[in-house]
Amino acid sequence: MKTMNAQQIRQAYLDFFVQKQHLVLPRALLVPQDDPTTLFTGSGMQPLLPYLLGQEHPLGSRLVDSQTCIRAQDIEEVGDNRHTTFFEMLGNWSLGDYFKQEQIQWLWEFLTTIVGLDPQRIYVSCYLGNKSLNIPKDIQSAAIWADIFKKSAIDPVEIDLDTPELGGQLGDQHGRIFFYSDKNWWSRSGSASNMPDGEPGGPDTELFYLFPQVKHDIKYGKYCHVNCDCGRYIELGNCVFMEYLKTAKGFSKLPKRNVDYGGGLERIAAAALDDPDVFKISLMWPIVNILEQISGRRYASQTNSMRVITDHLRAATFLAIDGVIPSNKEQGYVMRRLIRRAIRYAFDLGIEQNFIGEVVSIIADIYHQDFPEVAKNRDKIIEILVREEKIFRQTLRKGLKQMDKLSSQGNLTGEAIFTLYDTYGFPVELSSEEAFKRGLELDSNWREVFNSKMANQRKLSQTAAKGTFKGGLGGHSDIHKKYHTATHLLYKALRDTLGDMVVQHGSNITEERLRFDFSYPHKLTNEQIKEVEDIVNKQISRDLVVSWSEYPTEKALKQMGALGAFGDRYGDKVKVYSMTPKNAKKPYSLEVCGGPHVEHTNQLAEGNKRFHIIKEESSSAGIRRIRAVLK
Ligand code: SER
Repeated sequence: MKTMNAQQIRQAYLDFFVQKQHLVLPRALLVPQDDPTTLFTGSGMQPLLPYLLGQEHPLGSRLVDSQTCIRAQDIEEVGDNRHTTFFEMLGNWSLGDYFKQEQIQWLWEFLTTIVGLDPQRIYVSCYLGNKSLNIPKDIQSAAIWADIFKKSAIDPVEIDLDTPELGGQLGDQHGRIFFYSDKNWWSRSGSASNMPDGEPGGPDTELFYLFPQVKHDIKYGKYCHVNCDCGRYIELGNCVFMEYLKTAKGFSKLPKRNVDYGGGLERIAAAALDDPDVFKISLMWPIVNILEQISGRRYASQTNSMRVITDHLRAATFLAIDGVIPSNKEQGYVMRRLIRRAIRYAFDLGIEQNFIGEVVSIIADIYHQDFPEVAKNRDKIIEILVREEKIFRQTLRKGLKQMDKLSSQGNLTGEAIFTLYDTYGFPVELSSEEAFKRGLELDSNWREVFNSKMANQRKLSQTAAKGTFKGGLGGHSDIHKKYHTATHLLYKALRDTLGDMVVQHGSNITEERLRFDFSYPHKLTNEQIKEVEDIVNKQISRDLVVSWSEYPTEKALKQMGALGAFGDRYGDKVKVYSMTPKNAKKPYSLEVCGGPHVEHTNQLAEGNKRFHIIKEESSSAGIRRIRAVLK
């Protein structure tokens, strides 16, 4: 059997489940659109939460996808052979449809007969149960696995290990099916006893692949077992049987029993290659290769640095694709930190010149066939990252010099860390890493000092900003409504002219004008401005009909493609405004919005007015600002 590469595995997985009557979902953006609890989409189930809780999914009860994920909490762990901040999670879901039998059987079939993994090297874990919470041991899953193993002439020995600590003391004991307690319960907040009310979860069964070429390391426990961190066993996937809901009174059953499967594409591809190093797979190895070329060093001797750079630039590239711009807050801050860490690690390889453009171009090559949004935005993505590299290099040299000066003092104060942050653009984590490398002690109160300096600075900048914001979108006067409608037309016209990289980053309306901030890496040319104005005026004169309806958020954003604003968080349902030509079905503009608007767009032309862009300027790095009037 020919070894499949990662791209082929992704496609084969989708095809396999389509054959089993699943519909393919497009990947959700890395920035969650309706979940205020987290900065990034970190699993395939996150965007599906309302449906796991019981809402009908417009595409039915069987879904499959490959979801790009970021787990920024893993940033420090990157460097070993299998942890990455960015990865793709292969997911399939049953929303009250099939359950344990089909899920386990299909997963086995996919991995052993389609991908061609060795059944002898597959091990599984199941839920041991929790007496005090009155949740039983998952003997059904274990029995299904036992049948499957027997058919492959594998002895299905069951072992209770309970916790990873006990696992380390007792070892795998030639078992095949292992029972753990908290380790085999899945919810977004971890173990059953940690779940807040209203959170769904359930027992899970995990599948591991044994890499006998990896020797157990006793630093992780006396003996090895499937949940040992030494890397001999690598988890490939997790079937969550989501049927419980945490309530104030304890656990109740969800209206429907769901399956939520998530599998690591990169890890499955590594298993297919029979190499426990995920960086060797087809989605990553070309990146390592270009780093070898640029630096003239070998992966074998520079493994850690090359892994960090490879991972971080993959993550940053996908963040750029999804409309994030490096900045000092939230997603933008994580993106900035990833890029800056990559540059810092490149120094260790002797790369002191600009290199990000070359690497990101390779990343775009890897993904452009499977993700059309990569091909479409290629140049812009490269520009965003390259610009951040330039900004950082300018400050980095100065900052490192400053750090050298501080080194002579033997310790690093919160004040110094603030200066490095504020003046030299050093993310806090970078300063502490640098301090560590130089053997510098951090002052014990550095964080408090740093935080109070930050708070001070924030106050100052707020005071400065006050007064500049006259009204928000709050006004309901006629002219407000007109500018509001014009804002929707402008947003759509900008995307028509400049592409999908344009994502709204802010909007403000007064009686005199509208102001609109959006992501885009260049100054607009006069021709582009003219084109945008012409489109808006044309749509005004077409007298589009403005109306709204409520939709489930997922449906509005994913299936219908309604526009939203970057960073906006929505509930389960959203109001969507459409602007549609008379007698047409397809709207010109579709946008999530609370209103209010005019009834039809020709009202904007009352008194012979036209739409004019009066100013186009930079608002912050990668964000443009337009002011426009009707006159
Ligand atoms: N939600 C589960 C996980 O993230 C399976 O998709 O592992």
